[in-house]
Amino acid sequence: MDERAVKLTLKNVSKTFYDRNGGIPAIQNVSFTVYDNEFLVILGPGLCGKTVLLNTVAGLEQPTSGQIFLDSRELHGTDPGIGMVFQKKALFPWKTVMQNVEFGPKMRGIPKDERRKTAQKFIDLVGLQNFENSFPHELSGGMKQRVGIARAYANDPELLILDEPFGALDAQTRYSMQEEIIRIWKSEKKTILFVTNNIEEALYLGDRIVLLSRQPATVKETYVIDLPRPRDMLSPEFLKLREKISANMDITV
Ligand SMILES: Nc1ncnc2c1ncn2[C@@H]1O[C@H](COP(=O)(O)OP(=O)(O)OP(=O)(O)O)[C@@H](O)[C@H]1O
Ligand SMILES: [Mg+2]
Repeated sequence: MDERAVKLTLKNVSKTFYDRNGGIPAIQNVSFTVYDNEFLVILGPGLCGKTVLLNTVAGLEQPTSGQIFLDSRELHGTDPGIGMVFQKKALFPWKTVMQNVEFGPKMRGIPKDERRKTAQKFIDLVGLQNFENSFPHELSGGMKQRVGIARAYANDPELLILDEPFGALDAQTRYSMQEEIIRIWKSEKKTILFVTNNIEEALYLGDRIVLLSRQPATVKETYVIDLPRPRDMLSPEFLKLREKISANMDITV
């Protein structure tokens, strides 16, 4: 039996959207666990229901049925223990990098000196020192995602959810952000739930990969990836796993 502490549990979670023509299931009977400090990747084809799944875990959508637990606590709606980095632009464009990152602590009533210190720590951690006073429109795509990551960490969540955070980046920036997120994960010891539609990215990052089917998303398979880090995307072991997962992944056109 696996003795590791479980951070997140999904039990038969389904989400159906209803309109006048009836119900459209987006996710169906999804069950999995995420261990404490684990880097778990959800891999699924485009439009299969990945964002709906993450939003449901984050409490932004209510599940139609099923249960979600953080530790042993059942979740009903948003929870301060969960932080999110969104797929689409989610920074306040009228706020500076510093103001974006310290927004969460400010909302929680953390005194100014303390929240500045926290925000600075995470701005430094994501490599944005000297950009504290920049506005989002002055930053590259990769830098904006760094701000999103710093902002989520500044809230000190137990579980960090990242929804295709690097999907809009060019290939080179994407590779460097993949290295960065592993470095940050190792230094901060948080549980991460990371969504992607990219097999290589999933294999580079994940301790385990939960593979979803096309819509309605169901769990097709879970893979344990015990390749040493930093991972070599050209190693025979990596390529073999890529082949194996690729053969099992639904294609959406
Ligand atoms: N509020 C909503 N009402 C009705 N249908 C919705 C709603 N939100 C999502 N859907 C549908 O659920 C399905 C899954 O959408 P979702 O955004 O989760 O896909 P995804 O896997 O995140 O896609 P992508 O790879 O493009 O990010 C889609 O068919 C979408 O149209
Ligand atoms: Mg999505």
